[in-house]
Amino acid sequence: MKILVIGTGGREHALARALSLDPAVTEVHAAPGNPGIAAVAALHAVDPMSGGAVADLAERLGVDLVVVGPEAPLVAGVADAVRERGIAVFGPSQAAARLEGSKAFAKDVMSAAGVPTAASVLCTSAGEAAGALERFRAPYVVKDDALAAGKGVVVTRDRDQALEHAALCTSRGGGRVVVEEFLDGPEVSVFAICDGSTAYALQPAQDFKRIFDGGRGPNTGGMGSYTPLTWAQPDLAEVVLATVVRPTLDEMARRGSPFVGCLYVGLALTPGGPRVIEFNVRFGDPDIQPVLSVLESPLGQLLAAAAAGRLSEVPAPVFRDGAAVTVVLASAGYPESSSAGDVITGVDLAEQQDGVDVIHAGTAVRDGDLVTAGGRVLAVRAVGADVAEARRTAYAAADLVSFPGLQRRSDIAAEPLGVVEGGSLR
Ligand code: AMP
Ligand code: GLY
Repeated sequence: MKILVIGTGGREHALARALSLDPAVTEVHAAPGNPGIAAVAALHAVDPMSGGAVADLAERLGVDLVVVGPEAPLVAGVADAVRERGIAVFGPSQAAARLEGSKAFAKDVMSAAGVPTAASVLCTSAGEAAGALERFRAPYVVKDDALAAGKGVVVTRDRDQALEHAALCTSRGGGRVVVEEFLDGPEVSVFAICDGSTAYALQPAQDFKRIFDGGRGPNTGGMGSYTPLTWAQPDLAEVVLATVVRPTLDEMARRGSPFVGCLYVGLALTPGGPRVIEFNVRFGDPDIQPVLSVLESPLGQLLAAAAAGRLSEVPAPVFRDGAAVTVVLASAGYPESSSAGDVITGVDLAEQQDGVDVIHAGTAVRDGDLVTAGGRVLAVRAVGADVAEARRTAYAAADLVSFPGLQRRSDIAAEPLGVVEGGSLR
């Protein structure tokens, strides 16, 4: 089986690496890829946002499956363009990608499907938003309706700040803002592999979203993650499949836009049970990284079965004993900005450590040197007998990597009970 992975980040590096380990996978290609992915795949310079260009490449390479990593091409309809050429794609259609592309759409689907989530009000003016803030009280949760690369959400006790964000959202883009009830509880990520009607859940993970230790500072794309969540209810994945994923798949099929791909369920484990914070229509980054480290099942066969609508013909994914931890190394200025072109040292040394691999997220090669080229630069990933061991190994390896302005958290996976980050205010 030949597979083409679309994207440039750490998620795509982790996917390409896992795919290359599947004995049924003979070739892995990536477009555009990154210097880390180049070690496990052939790279092709193609605009990931152009459905036509991606479909042309897939046809030219004769691949059996295209895996679209990031949300932007999915929301832009890249999966549809590839599917129209008769090539299998792991990734939802443009219509199904609205589950991530529009928070209001996601809320509408959840409500029709009876999925537990925060109560919410869709507002089109700052005045309406002010009314909704009154209704829910502090802490306030205000979300831009449109895709905002993780920067569209403000959670605050400060009413003025909440109003200011609502005014900003209604004054730009689609002009719509969602105001919702605050969900209190640890935040977890459950990834469901979906074929339009059937789904398998992967082992749950937790993502550390804030830039600073202790969950302080602004939200980022994710600064680290780990699995398994030994503190969580053992049947969490099953409960999420039953209460969230299956009803959502049924509702999407009923609407004529079946969901094929990864449904990423971001949940708060509230005292009243798991409730959905958000849907994404792709694997989480970095949250998928440790999950792939402990996945024992062949990833290519799983994704190909989902893309073909035949998930029930392959066994449910199984996971190794033990744990995995990923620690993100970000560049100076992240998340507000990022710095590029700083020389990175120590990656080879880190990778020589037992149980460690280094995932590239924002790197480039300049004059033969590996340099920074993005906000999140690398992720040091390690496996171990348990979370504590994997964490020690990951940090020991991360200590070997350096570049000017490197930022990382020192508390990834440190708290045994899981860190109540997004669900608590700092
Ligand atoms: P989202 O883009 O919807 O994932 O929101 C970004 C982050 O804001 C989430 O990861 C949570 O940490 C936080 N958040 C979003 N919605 C809520 C909510 N209803 N209650 C508490 N925290 C939330
Ligand atoms: N790590 C969060 C995300 O991928 O959205």
